[in-house]
Parts: sequence; C-alpha cells; structure tokens
Amino acid sequence: MTQEETKMEKIISLCKRRGFVYQGSEIYGGLAGTWDYGPYGVTLKNNIKGLWWKRFVEDRDDMYGVDAAIIMNQNVWKASGHVSGFSDPLSECKKCGHRFRTDQLEDPKKCPDCGGVLGEARQFNMMFKTNVGPLESEDSISYLRPETAQGMFVNFKNILDTIHPTLPFGLAQIGKAFRNEIAPRDFIFRSREFEQMEIEYFVKPDDWKKTFESFVKEVHAFTTDVGLDKKHVHELEIADGDRAHYSKRTIDFEFDFPFGKKELFGLAYRTDFDLKAHSEASKVDLSYFDEETKTRFIPHCIEPSFGVERTVLAVLSDAYTEDEIDGEKRVYLKFSPKVAPIKVAVFPLLKNKPMLVEKAQEIFNLLRKDIKGVVFDDNGNIGKRYRRQDEIGTPYCVTVDFDTIEKDAGVTVRNRDTGKQERVKIKELTKYLKV
Ligand code: GAP
Repeated sequence: MTQEETKMEKIISLCKRRGFVYQGSEIYGGLAGTWDYGPYGVTLKNNIKGLWWKRFVEDRDDMYGVDAAIIMNQNVWKASGHVSGFSDPLSECKKCGHRFRTDQLEDPKKCPDCGGVLGEARQFNMMFKTNVGPLESEDSISYLRPETAQGMFVNFKNILDTIHPTLPFGLAQIGKAFRNEIAPRDFIFRSREFEQMEIEYFVKPDDWKKTFESFVKEVHAFTTDVGLDKKHVHELEIADGDRAHYSKRTIDFEFDFPFGKKELFGLAYRTDFDLKAHSEASKVDLSYFDEETKTRFIPHCIEPSFGVERTVLAVLSDAYTEDEIDGEKRVYLKFSPKVAPIKVAVFPLLKNKPMLVEKAQEIFNLLRKDIKGVVFDDNGNIGKRYRRQDEIGTPYCVTVDFDTIEKDAGVTVRNRDTGKQERVKIKELTKYLKV
C-alpha cells in the first residue's frame, strides 16, 4: 500500500467512524456506487452548497435559482444528445463475464480480473432508464437526469417570460444527478448517484470568451471559499476531439486527490447547442430579443459545473492531518471554519459538577443564538472530547471550569490546530468565535 492509498483508507474509515459517510444500503451488503451521508456529512455538504449558492446566486444580481424536476420528458434527452451519445466504452470478458470501462484498462484486450480475453468495446449508455406511469411502453420511457443542466435549458423561456432578465444572465441549480457508471470507484469520487451545482450562463455570442475567463477566476475563488489549497488545483485544457459533444471549449479543474490528479470541476462553452436543439425539437422559440440592437438570436452558454461529492472529498483530503500533541498522536480535520460541520463545542470540565454543567449549558445556549453549528458535550473525559472534536474538524472547544464560576475568569478556548488554550471573557466569546 502506498502512503496515498493509506491516506484514502484512513479518510474512508474516519468518515464511517465519525458519521460522515456510510456505504449505501450497507445492511444488505451495499449497492455499488451509492453512499449515504450521516449527520456530519450532511452538514458538510450543506455548508459547501451554501457557500456555492452565496457566491454564485445571492451575491450576484445576474443569477437566478431554479429547482427543476429530476425526471423529465424523454424528448429532452433525445434533443440534448444524451440518448444517442451519453455513453462510455464497455468491454466484457469472454471468460468471467466481468465488465470494464475500456478507457480505464491498462490492456484493452486482457481481463484484469481473470486474464481472459475481452470482447470488442461497445458503447454503453449511462442514463438510468425508467417508465413513468403504470404502462411500460416506448412512450412512457424516461430517465433519471445525468446532469442538472437540462432542467435549466428547458426553463429558459419560463425565466425570460416571468422574470424578464437581460443578457448576460445565468440560471443556477443544485440537485441530484444519476449515472450508471460502469466502474464506480474511489469512494465518493465516482458514484452512480451524486449532486451537481451547475450554472448555465447566457451571453451574446461575441461575449463568450470574456465570460469564460471570468468564470475561470470564479471557479478558483470557490475552491478558496471551501478551504482548498490553491497548489492542489490545476487547470487542464481539454483538446479537440476529447470534449463533450456540446462543447467548443472545456477546462477541467483537477485536484490532487490521494489516488491521483483527477477532475474536480468543469467549465464548458456550450455555444447555442442546447437552446437551439430544444427550440428545434420542441418547436418552441427559445430565442432572445435584444432591445439595444433590435436583433433576435439564440444566446450562447457558458457552463461551470461542480460536483458536490468531489468537493467533499477534496475538502476531506486537504483537511486530513496527523500530528502529535503533548507527546500523543492525533488525527484531525483541518477544515476551514466555513465548512466545518461543528464550529464550536462547549464542555463543562467535569460532568458530575452541576454548577459547571449548568454554566456550560448557559454558554451553549448563548452561543447557538448567533453561531450555527454549536454542540454541548459532557461525554467522557476532556481529552476524549478533544479527540472527538478534532476528528470531526471542530475549530474551537470552549471549556467551563471552576475559575469560570469562582473567579469570573471567562472560559478557555482551545484552538484545534495548535492545541493552544486561551482565556476569553464570556461577553467577548461570540465575537471571538464568530466565523
Ligand atoms: N453539465 C455538465 C456536466 O455534467 P460533467 O463533467 O460530466 O459535466 C460535471 O460533470 C461535474 O459533475 C464533474 O466535474 C464532477 O464534479 C461531477 N461528476 C460527474 N460524474 C460524477 C460521478 N459519477 N460521481 C460524482 N461526481 C461526478
């Protein structure tokens, strides 16, 4: 096992042990490519989604949120090109029957499981097919969306007609996407059910380049929002021929995951491909009338696309730290306070002293009025409580001791990263801890 493989194993084990991520359907032996999130995992995801929504929707005047249905009319996926083209190459072993993604094989002719001969690669469509309603017929076919994007293209006209925005403007959406990946792998990195945070930003055709460049900066800024180390994020220009069918330019933002440099986010110039395709297929006019130039045209689209789970994994990977404190080994998650599921834990020094417990509870109630993510913990000794909070990445632990009560000496605030403790007056505590 290499050091990086070990790190991945440790992250997976911490995620389970501390209630971040569990295997999907675990008591039935699991379901490949699915993961369930426990209390800290949900909060971590929500914090990441909240920062994204703030940066890209709340803090801007040119962005509109939508939340479209996951199941859409099958014609959406025909027009978008997904029915005919959303596929990966698949090879099947003639001996053991195992199936592989051809482009991930070292030797495309040899089965990595049994050494048998692999058959010719064929295209495998990754959309999950289902039927809507009680009849199973061609007409009732639908798909679980493989990207949230199409929900925004098909609502383009609704937004124009009801909100009346002028170009440039964007639609933003956070929601589930589903892909029947041939080989889900690397924990939550490649799963069959995941969440995307996507923007379809519409511009005049000539403006695409400058908008694309401005989103390159915004994507980097978001990686900083969630606390990723800039040195671990890299841009990869995708060559002609390797891009998705709709894209004229794509940059992948790659991250140094423990298992290698892999795609974290994508930024694509989708031209007018989608609006044009939906206009033609639905026979609904999806053009835009520009009052300034008195011209009518189909806007072009820039699409920054972010995976929630990949952000979670990148954040966990950058945060995972092992060190020694007072001669004792410890593991902690060095989360940015903005994403940390718990910001502050409040302890009474001793569990069996009612006056300490009462005071700690009073402080806990005071802090939670202003700070999101405050917990009270009197379980086990203080050392154990620190370990627990370190492992879930809590930036601050506040302890109420006898001096708090007897000498009105404030509380001790322990810093997760340094282990250092500082006395802070109770009336200054909220300000000190506010993140
Ligand atoms: N709408 C464009 C689009 O869907 P994509 O590159 O296929 O583009 C965008 O996906 C992002 O979604 C990726 O950069 C990644 O963060 C996330 N993603 C894609 N497939 C995934 C999977 N199987 N598991 C987890 N995240 C995935």
